[in-house]
Amino acid sequence: MERKKTVTFFVALTLIIAGCGGDFDRPAGSDGWLTGGVNEKFETVTEHLGGFGKAMWEVDYRFQELWWAGKDGNWDYAAHQIEELEETIELGLERRPARALSAQQFMTKAIPDVEEAIESRDPEMFERRIDMMMNTCNSCHALEDMEFLTVKPPLQRQSSIR
Ligand code: HEC
Repeated sequence: MERKKTVTFFVALTLIIAGCGGDFDRPAGSDGWLTGGVNEKFETVTEHLGGFGKAMWEVDYRFQELWWAGKDGNWDYAAHQIEELEETIELGLERRPARALSAQQFMTKAIPDVEEAIESRDPEMFERRIDMMMNTCNSCHALEDMEFLTVKPPLQRQSSIR
């Protein structure tokens, strides 16, 4: 009886594994646009996810929102934006670890400094620290041989949040 159960278990397990194996190769996504083996599909997804450039797109938006949040004295919004900005760079660095060295000053100095100003709700300290953060954006761009990416104070608001 016990043996029969064991055999049934292994037969079931084999069927499940075989079934999954078949599933891995099946096209996925709307109209099955994502094709190939499981590794090939992951490769396609990582290409769509993008590397550091995609992260920077979001960082730029969040930096501007952070800037205005400080000017508005909307400290809770500023705290939200810096948290999201940090997370975005962290994920970008996870995808492109070769950039991590250039980002060190930004991660270990610029972010905590601005966070401190937000926590202190001190407009003057914020002004100084966000300026320093902006310079650190630019020094990383220089370290990455992209001096042409010059971040300057934002001129216009990007979102409807005040
Ligand atoms: C690793 C250090 C590093 C830091 C820190 C950094 N950047 Fe970047 N940034 C890059 C690199 C590298 C690129 C080019 C990425 C690519 O396209 O592959 C880039 C690209 C950009 C772009 C152009 C994106 C596009 O349209 O292609 C903007 C805008 C930008 N960064 C803004 C910022 C701002 C604002 C900050 C600071 C809040 C910042 N960056 C901090 C390295 C950095």
